[in-house]
Amino acid sequence: MNYKRLYEIGKHLLAESDSEKLLHAAIDYAIEMSGAERGMLILFGENGEVFFETARNLKKKDIENPKFEISRTIINTVREKANPICLRNAHDVPLFQKSKSIDRLKILSVICLPLQYQGRLFGVLYLDNRTVRGAFKSETCSSMEEFADLISLSAYRALERKKLSNRVQDLEQELRQEYEFETVLGHSPQMVRVLELVSQVAETDATVLIEGETGTGKELVARAVHRNSQRKNMPLVSINCGAIPENLLESELFGFEKGAFTGATKRRKGKFEQAEGGTIFLDEVDEMSQALQVKLLRILQWGEYSPLGSDVTCQCNVRIVAATKKPLNELVQKGIFRDDLYYRLNLIRIYIPPLRDRKDDIPLLADYFFQNAKARLSKPAERISSEVIEWLIEYDFPGNVRELENIINRAVILCKGPEIKIAHLPPEITKKFATTEVPFQLFKQAKKNVLENFERSYLLKVLKTSRGNIKKAAQLSGMHEKNFHQKLKRYGISAKDLKK
Ligand SMILES: Nc1ncnc2c1ncn2[C@@H]1O[C@H](COP(=O)(O)OP(=O)(O)OP(=O)(O)O)[C@@H](O)[C@H]1O
Ligand SMILES: [Mg+2]
Repeated sequence: MNYKRLYEIGKHLLAESDSEKLLHAAIDYAIEMSGAERGMLILFGENGEVFFETARNLKKKDIENPKFEISRTIINTVREKANPICLRNAHDVPLFQKSKSIDRLKILSVICLPLQYQGRLFGVLYLDNRTVRGAFKSETCSSMEEFADLISLSAYRALERKKLSNRVQDLEQELRQEYEFETVLGHSPQMVRVLELVSQVAETDATVLIEGETGTGKELVARAVHRNSQRKNMPLVSINCGAIPENLLESELFGFEKGAFTGATKRRKGKFEQAEGGTIFLDEVDEMSQALQVKLLRILQWGEYSPLGSDVTCQCNVRIVAATKKPLNELVQKGIFRDDLYYRLNLIRIYIPPLRDRKDDIPLLADYFFQNAKARLSKPAERISSEVIEWLIEYDFPGNVRELENIINRAVILCKGPEIKIAHLPPEITKKFATTEVPFQLFKQAKKNVLENFERSYLLKVLKTSRGNIKKAAQLSGMHEKNFHQKLKRYGISAKDLKK
């Protein structure tokens, strides 16, 4: 092997950053340099498991063959002893003659080298020749030992790089998942189920139907499905079928050709074309006319549609995520929604329950919206009082999460002090609880109010009797003076005021 070639090989190996490519190249070079017939490179993981194996002119089947046992024994010996082995004919060596199936006529010249880095063995390079006894000259053996050092160094570096980049990818993945779901909050069992479903179905291309009342987070979930799918780098196109007049919806969805109707002066892309390769979010899909339902069915069945005013059939690759506030099965029963379309859409159904049915989520969401609002608006509010949270839990949120978000934003704006109090809540909530009927769950609060009123008037009375003398008042009430002071402070009562 000439020096120039060796230099080229070394340069290539050290420059190769893809560990797989590097290892494949290394084994090819090893065969080229040694003149071996076959070769194999094995790498071991930290726990001794084989995590990389590549072979030339050898098949996995061959290795498992009993005839290969001699080679396996040699590899294991090198692995254990971490010393190179270079043999004229392995069959001559008693240590390696264990195998009963050895074909005595066979010749096996072997070079087997440990791959090590900083004293740790992490792989073995195996080369052999079955036709020439002493196929490897002693110079070949020693130059291959040197070459093994080069492979070790470059392979080790490439593997470390790979480990690092895997780690980075894992971290990114974790971060991405955390981030993607960060906005879809919920720890109630119902929401956990929704989130699980989202993560299960996101990666598939399945059509998803999201059902839930207004403000429950249908659009948010639709976005989460897209962003956690393989289509995430392709467009997500949303269209609200209920907000667009029926006669325009078709051209919005499928586009139109020039001259399709008066005023169509040039061709226009429809939403399906815009969403090619990505996802389309059909909001309020229940509002689609029967005629359009047929066209949507065609897309779901065949992936086909025709732009308005065109005979051309377009093929599309778009994932459909649809949402509805009304339960679609009821519309099917009433004959308003086509049943065949319903079955296609309903492949995977995600139902988001109303907020009143998952009250566990209220404190979490309230805090989340509060932190968001605080960061956005520079207002003095620092916390939400526990009383407010209790009232929010009591309320049944006809507008669901959106309503909660608005309530919190409003409170942060109105709040002039550090704490959001009942006074900052909108009348819908306070009116409800201002009625005589105090809900059972508010018992704690009611008790606290009564107790506070009692304490305040008691303190005032006893102070009046002692003519503002705190020591005496404390004695009269059987309290420690320190304790008495604390209570006065708590109720903002000043003894001086009473002396007057
Ligand atoms: N689980 C949640 N975590 C955080 N924010 C949420 C959650 N659910 C809803 N929201 C927020 O509530 C608001 C309403 O959500 P979204 O628009 O997705 O509801 P929707 O079901 O599509 O409502 P509509 O039927 O009225 O269109 C949004 O600001 C959204 O970010
Ligand atoms: Mg919506």
